[in-house]
Amino acid sequence: MPLRILVVDDEETVREELIDALTDDGYEATGAADGQYAAEAALEQSFDVCITDINMPRMNGLDLLRRLGESSPETMTIIVTAQGDMRSAIEALRSGAADYVLKPLLFEDILAKVARLSEQRRLVVENRNLRQAVQDRRRHPSRMIGESSSMDALHELIGKVAPTRSNVLILGESGTGKELIARAIHEASGRSGSPLVPINCAAIPETLLESELFGHVKGAFTGADANKEGLLKTAGDGTIFLDELGDMPLPVQAKLLRAIENKEIQPVGSVRRIPIHARIVAATNMSLPEKIAEGKFREDLYYRMAVVEIKVPALRDRREDIPALVNHFVEKYRVEIGRPCAGVSSDALRLLMGYEWRGNIRELENTIERAMILFEGSMIETSDLPEVVQGTRPAEACDSLELSHAVHRFEAQHIDRVLTACNGDKREAARVLGISLSSLYRKIDSSAGAAKG
Ligand SMILES: Nc1ncnc2c1ncn2[C@@H]1O[C@H](COP(=O)(O)OP(=O)(O)OP(=O)(O)O)[C@@H](O)[C@H]1O
Ligand SMILES: [Mg+2]
Repeated sequence: MPLRILVVDDEETVREELIDALTDDGYEATGAADGQYAAEAALEQSFDVCITDINMPRMNGLDLLRRLGESSPETMTIIVTAQGDMRSAIEALRSGAADYVLKPLLFEDILAKVARLSEQRRLVVENRNLRQAVQDRRRHPSRMIGESSSMDALHELIGKVAPTRSNVLILGESGTGKELIARAIHEASGRSGSPLVPINCAAIPETLLESELFGHVKGAFTGADANKEGLLKTAGDGTIFLDELGDMPLPVQAKLLRAIENKEIQPVGSVRRIPIHARIVAATNMSLPEKIAEGKFREDLYYRMAVVEIKVPALRDRREDIPALVNHFVEKYRVEIGRPCAGVSSDALRLLMGYEWRGNIRELENTIERAMILFEGSMIETSDLPEVVQGTRPAEACDSLELSHAVHRFEAQHIDRVLTACNGDKREAARVLGISLSSLYRKIDSSAGAAKG
């Protein structure tokens, strides 16, 4: 995105010529005739750079510099001083100016300085995005586990919609992985150099949600003591993730609909419209048609958002993914808790595969984390699982072909892990696994055969 520059000078010709030179160089430049105009403009729109003269009617350049320091600290200011007035230049630098230039103005000089600031800003933003991405990845590894046919279909759909501009609505019960899918879409979208900005529409009161999404100008309401950029704008060319969309209050829904239709937002208290480019991905665990029938959700917004609808299946409808997920979480917490664990016993796995998982993958993950802390032997047994899980009817591997494949794969990985833990000692591994040495040999043979086939 081009740098936005505000040129402040009371001499119209100087101002216009400088704006032209900056525009020719690819910047987005606008002008203000004095410090007062400039300060007002900066309340409505954020500028990356402000180039200001010092002597002007109403508000001079140094006062403007201090004002901007309070209201828009991100703006970098270049002060234009007269030859020989080094005192003002020094005072400006002390008050936080990024740089100064001397009169008479040499455009090349200014353009070089702006280019330097532009590079500086790019590095800062890039750095911040990178740090954010690293943090995000650490907190939410976006690797999605699951090889069931429904997960395959999900991956295919994600691959198809990710590169488009379409809004996406992700539907699914709590804990099914909706946020993970939003991240996967962002990462596969070609927008991953820009941020993914999540916002939870249920966790924030209405007025705050409005100013978070659309921004506000200083003085728009009590407590608005600086300009605030809306997250729809902050997301830039990236993705905004509206979590719990079903809980969004109706007035905010109306404003969001307008933003989607016009591709621009109007900060609270401002008359200015700001273009937005971010892709919108939303999620909810509610039935929006039901909310529409109750008059709590706008039907027109629903159709705008549901251009592509991704339905995430509940975990109980893809039980064949449970073994791989269990392995994944055992591995995750083995590293995190720093406790050796040979995995989950076959009996415990059958219970885990039979349980209802109303809280879906999140509940499964919590269950494994808890068991990893509590278990006492070398691996997680049925007695290490919560009572509700222990009371389940265990799933039988022969319930379906997919289930039995999944169990076989799990068993092979499991044996492999136990063998490694026992330094390859098969007698010891058989003892840990609670099977005879000969059946261990049989299982190793058959899983080697399966791996080849
Ligand atoms: N396919 C998957 N593979 C591995 N981990 C997953 C998968 N799906 C979800 N998870 C993990 O399960 C947890 C819950 O996922 P997530 O937060 O995306 O669910 P959600 O649908 O947004 O839930 P809620 O509706 O409660 O907000 C997270 O820790 C996530 O990393
Ligand atoms: Mg969520």
